[in-house]
Amino acid sequence: MKTSIIKSPAGNSASSDFLPLLGTDYVEFYVGNAKQAAYYYKSAFGFQSLAYAGPETGIRDRCSYALRQNKLFFVFTTPLRSDNSIADHIFRHGDGVKTLALRVDDAVASWKITTANGAGSYMEPVTLNDEYGELVMSGIHAYGDTVHVFIERKNYQGPFMPGYKKWETAYNPSDTGLQYVDHCVGNVGWNQMNAWVNFYEKVMGFRNILSFDDKDISTEYSALMSKVMSNGNGFVKFPINEPAEGKKKSQVEEYLDFYQGEGCQHVAMATNDIVYTVTELQKRGVEFLTVPDSYYKELFDRVGKIDEDLIALHKLGILVDRDEEGYLLQIFTKPVEDRPTLFYEIIQRKGAKSFGKGNFKALFEAIEREQQKRGNL
Ligand code: FE2
Repeated sequence: MKTSIIKSPAGNSASSDFLPLLGTDYVEFYVGNAKQAAYYYKSAFGFQSLAYAGPETGIRDRCSYALRQNKLFFVFTTPLRSDNSIADHIFRHGDGVKTLALRVDDAVASWKITTANGAGSYMEPVTLNDEYGELVMSGIHAYGDTVHVFIERKNYQGPFMPGYKKWETAYNPSDTGLQYVDHCVGNVGWNQMNAWVNFYEKVMGFRNILSFDDKDISTEYSALMSKVMSNGNGFVKFPINEPAEGKKKSQVEEYLDFYQGEGCQHVAMATNDIVYTVTELQKRGVEFLTVPDSYYKELFDRVGKIDEDLIALHKLGILVDRDEEGYLLQIFTKPVEDRPTLFYEIIQRKGAKSFGKGNFKALFEAIEREQQKRGNL
């Protein structure tokens, strides 16, 4: 198996990082029913009510619910009528990620440099005000209909952003220990991976820190290729997948067929205690992919000693992988909508900075079993 680890510095030095990012600000989903989506993410994933925008706050064409769990901010937006671009997005893609918002110190400079570097403008810089201060935002187009919005909130003290009001609810399920966005993966079309690698390098100053070819990521039946892009300080990581030829249909191709285009495949959310988090998620009805029992028989030989109780990991179906710097624990949900598109990864890093290459085979075989059930392999 060939994995090319690019032997370059971890990122750009501060002086050469032309797009300094403070991390992920929020992920916005366009969904058919934001009220019910918010209920699902509160009940199942333990997000907390944060802010609301809609007719009651002077927004006429949509409703948005902002939820928070530690440093994770998710926004669910639904259109109130069919004559707008949000409705078009849902008609084509189903429920999915529209916006991967990035926190910056200067949203105007971020827009200027990225559009000068060739990005298509999604939103010219705009300054929003309310009684809590001033928030500046701008945006560029990324793969498919997905966009990156730059958020400058250093002069803003409100619950979320102007246009929203604090959302207080009587129903507040406890959180599940999810902490922050670890990475967001994009699925792009045939032979498009390198074009998007170039986009993140040239437009946004990211670097390719890991590459997996179709020999790394293939089972008996299907294959894909992936390159991991990271910004200068490593806070933002976007792996980019494209399908590869196999005996049967690549999972990336299945996604592209049902999302009807390129888009965000999964969001990885970090936890400091994966056993606790996954126990809670399973109790609340979140469905995960499962691997055969044989996976756990070979686990100690493959990863060596770990702190966690193997029985608990086995019972929950949590996967483990090791790299030169430590190990990681991870598990993947089934798609969270009826189309086989967006899913989640829950990840706990114990030193490891990689993405679980040792689990790819077991994981992709689990995905194929689900594809088979759907008649899409
Ligand atoms: Fe991942």
